[in-house]
Amino acid sequence: MTSVHTAATAAATAGSAAPRKDSDTTPSESARRRNSSPMTMVDYLRLAAFIMFFVGHSIMVNLCQLAVSPWLILVSKRVNRKFNQQAERWFCTVLLAATSIWAPTRLVLTGDRELGSSSAAGDIGGDESSWFAPAVEHGCMLISNHQTYFDWIIIWILSYLQKCDGYIKIILKGELKNVPVFGWGMQFLDFMFLKRKWADDQRTFETHMQRIIDHDDPAWLLIFPEGTVVCKKRIAISDAYAAKTGLRRPEHTLLPRTNGSRVCLNKLRGRIPYIYDLTVGYEGLRKGDIPEDEYGLVSMYGKSIYPSEVHIHVKRYAVADIPADEEGFSAWMQNVFVEKDIRMGRFYELGHFPHDHEEDPAIPVDSPVLRVAKPARAGNLPAELISMWIQFLAIIIPARYVLSHVLSGVWHALSGIL
Ligand SMILES: *[C@@H]1O[C@H](CO)[C@@H](O)[C@H](O)[C@H]1NC(C)=O
Repeated sequence: MTSVHTAATAAATAGSAAPRKDSDTTPSESARRRNSSPMTMVDYLRLAAFIMFFVGHSIMVNLCQLAVSPWLILVSKRVNRKFNQQAERWFCTVLLAATSIWAPTRLVLTGDRELGSSSAAGDIGGDESSWFAPAVEHGCMLISNHQTYFDWIIIWILSYLQKCDGYIKIILKGELKNVPVFGWGMQFLDFMFLKRKWADDQRTFETHMQRIIDHDDPAWLLIFPEGTVVCKKRIAISDAYAAKTGLRRPEHTLLPRTNGSRVCLNKLRGRIPYIYDLTVGYEGLRKGDIPEDEYGLVSMYGKSIYPSEVHIHVKRYAVADIPADEEGFSAWMQNVFVEKDIRMGRFYELGHFPHDHEEDPAIPVDSPVLRVAKPARAGNLPAELISMWIQFLAIIIPARYVLSHVLSGVWHALSGIL
């Protein structure tokens, strides 16, 4: 109830001038630490506990996939897909649990005015589910700016809130494919791994999109058009490209790459009705900060330095209105990112995305856009964890039993021969 803002705190959180709600007094808020502070003993313990929790659960998910999936593939690809959607939900439960224990942030969503408006000015409330109804039914493509490696976690949590956490499709660097446990798990989930060679990647996109079209599941394809998180090196490359081509130099994002999104979208035309354009902003950052330097995963889950709120502005584009040709699509995407960059500038001024007429003259006077704030966690986390563990054990115990009998059978056969 008492969120006392001392002068020092106010200065440290200058980026977020928004009046605080009563409920969100996080430990990091009263005396905000910067990530440049050294790791303490407590940080190491906290990080070790996180790694044990996260890796341990991921191993369980992966063991279940290894125990079940190879057999299901033989029986039915469809059943195997359904099983792996469940595995994907388990993994999201793990992300939700880890985030609510180690970095209990809140998710603040603002909707573009075309998505509908809220009744009371300045009100935080309402329900965003109508924005995503077409995506829940038909699937969607999500494009987002890439600020930190937490982006994909919070967007996965957003999909969980719409009950679509089993359908997320993520695009990753090819090197991650063979990382034990995680890479293997993501291969079962049919994520896309890129080689950064256009001819190869184009084929990867097309075969994956074909699979999405062939299935009746509402895939949520997540794309970060910048290709990587914002960092000094990438900013320099992006700026040089802007200077060379005469494109507007962004201040808060990199220039978007357009080829991958275009190829995916053109395959999915007729299947998905909308692209959701997400702009992600982190509370506590100041203009010019490199977000990943402040809110890296070690900082968030180890040092307990995390944003009290992650803001996502949601905008929706009808696929039918988006140009299909290379030049037209490229211009469209550049424009989406120019708007995004300007919106990020406003975010740093206001501490949140513009929400009413005073903050953005384009928003009608009497109908501010809907703003929803909720904790980024499961409705009933203990129940979800227990249910997940019951499913784990229901798979692992019989699988172990079968495996030990198969092995001892083989052993006996071998010793009979020898
Ligand atoms: C983008 O796609 C076009 C047409 O398919 C191709 O010619 C071009 O090399 C691609 N650009 C990049 C940067 O891969």
